[in-house]
Amino acid sequence: MKSAQEWIALEDAFQPPTYARNPAVFESGDGIWLYDTNGKRYADLYGGHCVAALGHTPSAVSEAIKKQGDTLFFYSNVAYLPIRGQAAEKVISMAPEGFDKVFFCNSGTEANENALKIAWKLTGKKRLVATKGGWHGRTLASLAVTDDLKITSPYATVLPPVLRVPFGDAAALRQLLKAEDDIGAFILEPIQSIAGITTAPPEYFQEIRQICDEYGVFLIFDEIQTGVGRTGKFSYSEWLGMKPDLITFAKSLAAGFPIGAVLMPERVSAQLKTGDLGSTFAGGPLACAACIATLQEVESRELMENNIRLFEAAVEALTPIGVEVRGAGALIGIKLPVPAKNVVSRLFEAGWVTGTSADPQVMRLMPPYITPPEIMKPFAEALKEALQ
Ligand SMILES: Cc1ncc(COP(=O)(O)O)c(C=O)c1O
Repeated sequence: MKSAQEWIALEDAFQPPTYARNPAVFESGDGIWLYDTNGKRYADLYGGHCVAALGHTPSAVSEAIKKQGDTLFFYSNVAYLPIRGQAAEKVISMAPEGFDKVFFCNSGTEANENALKIAWKLTGKKRLVATKGGWHGRTLASLAVTDDLKITSPYATVLPPVLRVPFGDAAALRQLLKAEDDIGAFILEPIQSIAGITTAPPEYFQEIRQICDEYGVFLIFDEIQTGVGRTGKFSYSEWLGMKPDLITFAKSLAAGFPIGAVLMPERVSAQLKTGDLGSTFAGGPLACAACIATLQEVESRELMENNIRLFEAAVEALTPIGVEVRGAGALIGIKLPVPAKNVVSRLFEAGWVTGTSADPQVMRLMPPYITPPEIMKPFAEALKEALQ
């Protein structure tokens, strides 16, 4: 049996050094718990990077994948598959009213890439608008709308043209659209996660809906993090009293099996033609089986409701220790009086997996939906200790 150091050396020997990683080697998981190769246990409040909606090794999803694997492991979109139809039906049955069709893909960046392609194709316009602090992925269109010079600047000369407005400032969007033409889409995260879990009031979203309508601009919600029930509704737009034109999902949609999705109304899908979008692996049978099982669990175990209770418990347990809690459901930002990086490392040593954000003072929790709200009490104790 290899030691943790040997496992780390093995990965590093055969992969380029593109990731900053935790100092532990996770060997197995069960529910919200992770175990490293030394047998140490961690409570995973980071959810495998906002993905493990049902925790680790969710048996309903593993069994669905196994059953599908034994039935039909793979076929591409050149064939109709019973499991793909069922997955699409399930997603649409839970989607906000008016979202009638889903285009499957394989990741978050691909979902955004496809949404932007739809906007480009259907408007015939070239430029895009995105928000300051927005984060949308690493393929070229998604990267172009991402506000992170560290990862965009090497590719600045080849990225599609993007204009940027402050998040939460509807007047700035109006001014920009008045002054500039040839703009096909406005993409934003309804809760900016990587920026530090910041959001805007519902009126902002109602206003941008109106402005995008006035100027014929596609309004795209990147719900890669907020979607699939994480905030207590299937789409965060349901809290806001408005509807974007396109919604993108990934991360939690199959509880860890790679999948992405673009949700759209019939008025959009009706304009798409054979060959406009596509991908070999998109809507693959294993991903579809995992997606159906995940959504069934989210519904039958009332996990969206649990996420709402989780947030309430976080506010109740954490506010008294002198930190600010923000976000919604199982997407929780904690503003600390000190840099988050050190606190996150100390918590990790103490057996709690949490994360940082682009705001040096904000740490993030993106726990599994199955996380018991009561855990916020011992977590608050651990955080208090780490802060000291
Ligand atoms: C808001 C948001 N959009 C898009 C992405 C890209 O998703 P993926 O890494 O699956 O390509 C991420 C990933 O963290 C994200 O947080």
